[in-house]
Amino acid sequence: MKQTTDFLKMKENGEKVVMLTAYDFPSAKQAEQGGVDVILVGDSLGMVVLGYDSTIPVTMEDMIHHTKAVKRGAKDTFIVTDLPFLTYHLSIKDTLINAGRLLQEAGAHAVKLEGADEVVEKIAALTKAGIPVCGHLGLTPQSVGVLGGYKVQGKDATAAKKLIEDAKTIEESGAFALVLECVPKQLAEEVASSISIPVIGIGAGLYVDGQVLVYHDILGYGVDRVPKFVKQYHAVNPFMIESIQAYASDVKNKQFPEDRHSFTMKEEELKVLYG
Ligand code: KIV
Ligand code: NA
Repeated sequence: MKQTTDFLKMKENGEKVVMLTAYDFPSAKQAEQGGVDVILVGDSLGMVVLGYDSTIPVTMEDMIHHTKAVKRGAKDTFIVTDLPFLTYHLSIKDTLINAGRLLQEAGAHAVKLEGADEVVEKIAALTKAGIPVCGHLGLTPQSVGVLGGYKVQGKDATAAKKLIEDAKTIEESGAFALVLECVPKQLAEEVASSISIPVIGIGAGLYVDGQVLVYHDILGYGVDRVPKFVKQYHAVNPFMIESIQAYASDVKNKQFPEDRHSFTMKEEELKVLYG
């Protein structure tokens, strides 16, 4: 299993870090078999698994529940779990308690939190307490209300400058990696070359130190539309619906179960039963 220091070495060696989300036992097993370096139990689970419109309703209990399942499916992969909405803003004490639960109760190896500014002191406190932290800048979905929608961030020079400064501050506060979401590729490249911790991009172009995508997006599983920055490798949804339709029609038409799906009782037992 790779560790935080391995990700730093990978950046030094120009080796890309592969991150993928997973939310349950089968997806985690597949992610590990598929050879990802890091599994992210993202709070995107609120949208792709739980059917919410945003990540805002996701709770600590949700993250713990899903991280436990992921852990059972991927015993040999580094697991980062998102701290959900408002679980790292009230105080340093609250932040430590919540992050601690994700490691102790759920089995995550690290936590991810969004933003800089007031969040920076939380990153420092977590790191000092021995909890590895992954930062998250650019489009930060927990602030969708403030950002006014899911839009590309850092497009103008002022915003770009602030983002580069924030990335440096996050590195200085002790984070071992930084997720950078939905920013122009030129800005992402500049961020990646400005800090020594790996920058894991999503919608951030090629010139970063790794990539992260959502499990359901790359597989076309349960999602109708995917954002521009997603590469969908298969569209499994139609296969799944077809399978369910075929099962339903088999049952209705008495095509299932067949003899090979059925258990039988021995003749002599039947004789005893019926006399
Ligand atoms: O929740 C999530 O899946 C994420 C990634 C998209 C980076 O935060
Ligand atoms: Na997230």
